[in-house]
Amino acid sequence: MCGIVGYIGNRDAYPILIKGLHRLEYRGYDSAGIALINKENELSVYKTKGRVQDLEEFSKSKDITGNIGIAHTRWATHGEPNNVNAHPHYSQSESLALIHNGIIENYAVIKKELLQKGYTFQSSTDTEVLVQLIEYIKSTNQCDLFTAVQLALNQVVGAYAIAVLERGNPNCIIAARKSSPLVIGIGDDEFFLGSDASPIVEYTNKVIYLDDEEIAIIERGKTEPKIVTISNVQKTHKIKELEMNLSQLEKGGFSHFMLKEIFEQPETLKNCMSGRVNQEATNVILSGIIDHKEKFLEAKRILIIACGTSWHAGLIGEYLIEEFCRIPVEVEYSSEFRYRNPVINSTDIVIAISQSGETADTLAAVELARKAGAFVYGVCNVVGSSIPRNTDSGSYTHCGPEIGVASTKAFTAQVMVLTMIALTLANQKGTIKQEEYEGILKELLLIPNKIEKILALNEQIKQLASIFTYAHNFIYLGRGFSYPVALEGALKLKEISYIHAEGYPAAEMKHGPIALIDNEMPIVAIASDNAIHEKIVSNIQEIKARKGRVIAIISEGDTEIKSMADHCIEIPKTKECLSPLLSCIPLQLLAYHIAVTKNRDVDMPRNLAKSVTVE
Ligand code: M6R
Repeated sequence: MCGIVGYIGNRDAYPILIKGLHRLEYRGYDSAGIALINKENELSVYKTKGRVQDLEEFSKSKDITGNIGIAHTRWATHGEPNNVNAHPHYSQSESLALIHNGIIENYAVIKKELLQKGYTFQSSTDTEVLVQLIEYIKSTNQCDLFTAVQLALNQVVGAYAIAVLERGNPNCIIAARKSSPLVIGIGDDEFFLGSDASPIVEYTNKVIYLDDEEIAIIERGKTEPKIVTISNVQKTHKIKELEMNLSQLEKGGFSHFMLKEIFEQPETLKNCMSGRVNQEATNVILSGIIDHKEKFLEAKRILIIACGTSWHAGLIGEYLIEEFCRIPVEVEYSSEFRYRNPVINSTDIVIAISQSGETADTLAAVELARKAGAFVYGVCNVVGSSIPRNTDSGSYTHCGPEIGVASTKAFTAQVMVLTMIALTLANQKGTIKQEEYEGILKELLLIPNKIEKILALNEQIKQLASIFTYAHNFIYLGRGFSYPVALEGALKLKEISYIHAEGYPAAEMKHGPIALIDNEMPIVAIASDNAIHEKIVSNIQEIKARKGRVIAIISEGDTEIKSMADHCIEIPKTKECLSPLLSCIPLQLLAYHIAVTKNRDVDMPRNLAKSVTVE
């Protein structure tokens, strides 16, 4: 949830850390802080409520020299976002400084014991408890920092990615992880640390991803970090090469990452299909499925687990898999699934969908499913993240780093992967006719060009957005494949514009929500061609009869809805099962422009962070 960056080498650490924090800011932006050791071996901590920019302002008059340091950008869990709760946290004697991502669940018990031993606490965070515990262990055992960290981590319950600096020790950073990602970048005579690779990629493409319960001793003058588990087993890691490049982390002329990512979708979807759907549109192969064909052919049921936008993609996956593979599918919120003692069988396939691959609830749900003997398949974007490393097989969405907090290109890539899963499996099972199979593949290859056409409507959608900024509520309606799109459109609007919005299956309106409709209420109807088109036409009529203001997403040439709706956005025709890939695009743009018009911070909406690595 928070962002961690570290540096040790021969350059000035401060600019590297600040730049790294800017790249990580999407992970949390309640407060920011930095710890540096200068040439005199003094350890200084500077931290402030607010954004990285505020930290830069705050540190202007301070000593920011030194070529070793750690820095943090926070999304508050324990304790409100303020200067004191910001990381790094000092230990009692100010000889240690620590940054932390995660939650120490038994912090209250440890804090009580430390209070009894005379320790005092400045903040209300669990993190301060950890740094105090390390100092206490170090002084009572008269041991080195590494041993103290190791002993302390054996006492804590919970999730952590940490980095620790020690006054008088300018040659070493101690870092450790459990259930929160941590990456070490290996340069020439220098090391970098990041909660993901984004602050590292500018300097090196050689990285090591720490595994759970591993501690790294990152020492000046060494060529590789030393890695040991908390139970003292030495580990050797293969150095990996980053696939990411710097331009993917920059806005590239767009005013926001979200807009850039919306416009990237034709390209990201081509990448997603590349090497999987052949150009003749006669076959799609997902190796993650083919390599475990027997498991998939035997499957009696598929469970899909995910959160937020990924859960919406999962609902589309349900429709696709049931339609083409005739296997029953259930879609669950990971957070509910993990705590409700679900029935899981060894003949179940569990598909875990996650952009980040780090969402705590989805990760826990994956563990539960594996323990119960199910075969678990990951659909993730971030290569090497925890979910792909903890699943039996899977497919990456290959859409590049998604920085905007509101998920856009990751959603369409997830839907694309789920479409390919459904088609691969249906073809293997023989539940789809060759003609239909090839027809869908042919249409799938046309999707990127059709999205280009929708993106060309950006100005029209911007104008439309300016009409609706007055609204405090929105309703999004859809049926069949368009229902999950309605949910996703409403979520996009909520999270970046702070306008209340609800997605509904259109026919459910008359069971209650229709009472909300008056001449002020905007209703976004996702009404592109589908088998029950006339049903959504009558739903729109019901709304118009109550004077609701309808914005309809329609297929090109639909004169019937055009004559009824107040505003229409026409999108290219496609097959119904692929329609979500097109109909979500105008909704992303609508939410974006409404939020911009309302002067919202689109890439860093209030209270949110990109990946939710805590419960
Ligand atoms: O990384 P994940 O896909 O597991 O994240 C799940 C949700 O936190 C995420 O989709 C969230 O809902 C987005 N902010 C939606 O735009």
